[in-house]
Amino acid sequence: MENKRERVEGNTKDPQEKLPFNDRKESIYSEILTGLKLEQKELPPKYFYDEKGSALFDQICGLEEYYPTRTETEILTENIDEIVDSIHSNSVIIEYGSGSSIKTKILLDNLPDLGTYIPVDISYSHLHKSAKALQSRYPNLKIIPVTADYTKNFDLPSIASKTKKNTVFFPGSTIGNFYPKQAIAFLKKVANQVGSGGGLIIGIDLKKDPQILNLAYNDSQGITEKFNLNMLSNINSILGSNFNLDNFRHFAEYNLQFGRIEMHLVSKVDQMVSIGEEEITFENGENLLTEVSYKYSLEEIQEIADQSGFTLRKSWVDEKKYFSVNCLTID
Ligand code: AVJ
Repeated sequence: MENKRERVEGNTKDPQEKLPFNDRKESIYSEILTGLKLEQKELPPKYFYDEKGSALFDQICGLEEYYPTRTETEILTENIDEIVDSIHSNSVIIEYGSGSSIKTKILLDNLPDLGTYIPVDISYSHLHKSAKALQSRYPNLKIIPVTADYTKNFDLPSIASKTKKNTVFFPGSTIGNFYPKQAIAFLKKVANQVGSGGGLIIGIDLKKDPQILNLAYNDSQGITEKFNLNMLSNINSILGSNFNLDNFRHFAEYNLQFGRIEMHLVSKVDQMVSIGEEEITFENGENLLTEVSYKYSLEEIQEIADQSGFTLRKSWVDEKKYFSVNCLTID
């Protein structure tokens, strides 16, 4: 009989360590500088999610204007029987970006025979806190948290070897953060991880009236603004840079041509920021792109499934067709 300690051991990493995930400081530094040296300055959205950013994101999920979380939860709840029927009974469930685990609970509550659950998240502390909470709710479930940047290659625990018919659970429409080509490449990687007979349950935000989208990313309480600005303080604390948060403002807008929300930080002044040895200049009014959040039509979901080697089995949507939960399988 294994003890609890073993059960909650995925990859090991010193929690005191400042870096949010298993990347070396040099590679974070070069990734961030590469983005800041582009003509259109850009930073990867994964840097939103330090402890504070993850808490702010949880707050966003509860906002009136931010429809995705409650809509997805409603779709999952209403269709849970059908959804769990699509999951192989001796499957291992791998969840990407497990964050706050309300949606996970809906799934796990309805899979009493599930043996193994592998949450994968970029934030060590967030991941281990929620793994602990889940372990006491599901004492017989083997939970193996893995701290990783799932947008890159990473190793899964050996129990998730392909013959197990894994199911990946990827809720929240985080796929929207990928540019279309990256989304296909990512789905191909997932296809390889779940193996033949495996599947993917993925939440994807749908195209809709731009006004609703713009409100969802410009909430009246300014939580999204805080969330956006927090990326700079996270980078300050990782790299010792000197971004002054007062010198930037939040800007988010739906780009109809590309079918995506674009989130920016706009420089309020001409300024210079030091990062390590480098100085980055911002002109007054210059945009720094912090996030794209692509919205899909049901036809486009069919297309990306086809292009990545999956079969789209079913899409569940809410009444207003704001959001979708999709089951994709590998035959
Ligand atoms: C976590 C990427 C799905 O795009 O809606 C929320 C992040 N950004 N508000 C999204 C986010 C601003 C969210 N995703």
